[in-house]
Amino acid sequence: ATGGYERAFDAAVAAEERVEPRDWMPDAYRATLVRQMAQHAHSEIIGMQPEANWITRAPSLRRKAILMAKVQDEAGHGLYLYSAAETLGTSRDELLDKLHSGRQKYSSIFNYPTLTWADVGAIGWLVDGAAITNQVPLCRCSYGPYARAMVRICKEESFHQRQGYELLLALSRGTPEQHAMAQDAVDRWWWPSLMMFGPPDDESAHSAQSMTWKIKRHSNDELRQRFVDICVPQAASLGLTLPDPELRWNEERQRHDFGPIDWAEFRAVLKGNGPCNEQRLSQRRRAHEDGAWVREAAAAYAAKRTGRAEG
Ligand code: 3HC
Repeated sequence: ATGGYERAFDAAVAAEERVEPRDWMPDAYRATLVRQMAQHAHSEIIGMQPEANWITRAPSLRRKAILMAKVQDEAGHGLYLYSAAETLGTSRDELLDKLHSGRQKYSSIFNYPTLTWADVGAIGWLVDGAAITNQVPLCRCSYGPYARAMVRICKEESFHQRQGYELLLALSRGTPEQHAMAQDAVDRWWWPSLMMFGPPDDESAHSAQSMTWKIKRHSNDELRQRFVDICVPQAASLGLTLPDPELRWNEERQRHDFGPIDWAEFRAVLKGNGPCNEQRLSQRRRAHEDGAWVREAAAAYAAKRTGRAEG
């Protein structure tokens, strides 16, 4: 019976049309979008923790204001993405339960500690930079609500990346101790940032299907390579080095060759054995419990208002 629907769906995707919430879609398309959008949203809200760690210790009011705006943006990105995921018939509560019980993931990158102020710059430049490289193609994702959420998120991410770059530049051109602090942060955040793009293509469980459905427009390795090629000249203008002795321009490929990634580390972090996995999840669960009264009050208020409307 779904034959006709399936053909119409495939034709729409092939014709670069957007799939909208009320359109028929294969169950597996719906499921993989819920999986990816939920984990993307979880990444945004968990990502608030390492950054917020430095709000009370920012070196100036200007830096504090910028960092607060950025952390607020991440919360907003989580909201857009949970709302977009709810159009697929799931609920934010259900998705948060899956996060809290370890049945859904968030980006590996947020399981690393922010040890110095320079980490705030390295996160902005590298982590938000990687997020932009990964998210710009998602603006052309076949699922309408996800693609539209990405347009606004990418605009805000570019502010996040610029402020991180500028913060590192100030440190790199500062005292020798500040320069060393910036270099140390880049040394610690470079390889984990490359892991944000996912496993190598030949070990990616979802890429083939996600590319057929035009959810993923480029493979994990293609975007990782694009990110490396963007960062090399930026590191040079920052006066900082990238911690990869095998990094070099390959004239023939017109790309940078780079060294091997430690996939054992990646798998360990995904299994929950990164430096901060337990801390991030327990802090998230605690925040959720502490916020229960706000949710109850908002729901009671909403019920009263709709009740009044019916009364
Ligand atoms: N961290 C955690 N899990 C990861 C991962 C990472 N860096 N990379 C891959 N995985 C997981 C996948 O989720 C999948 O597991 P699952 O089946 O349980 O979901 C498994 O590893 C296999 O990977 P695949 O390549 O087959 O999976 P995908 O096709 O989903 O590709 C992805 C992974 C490229 C991350 C893709 O899901 C994606 O583009 N997601 C949207 C972008 C996103 O989530 N970005 C998070 C970055 S942080 C952020 O954006 C916040 C910003 O403000 C800094």
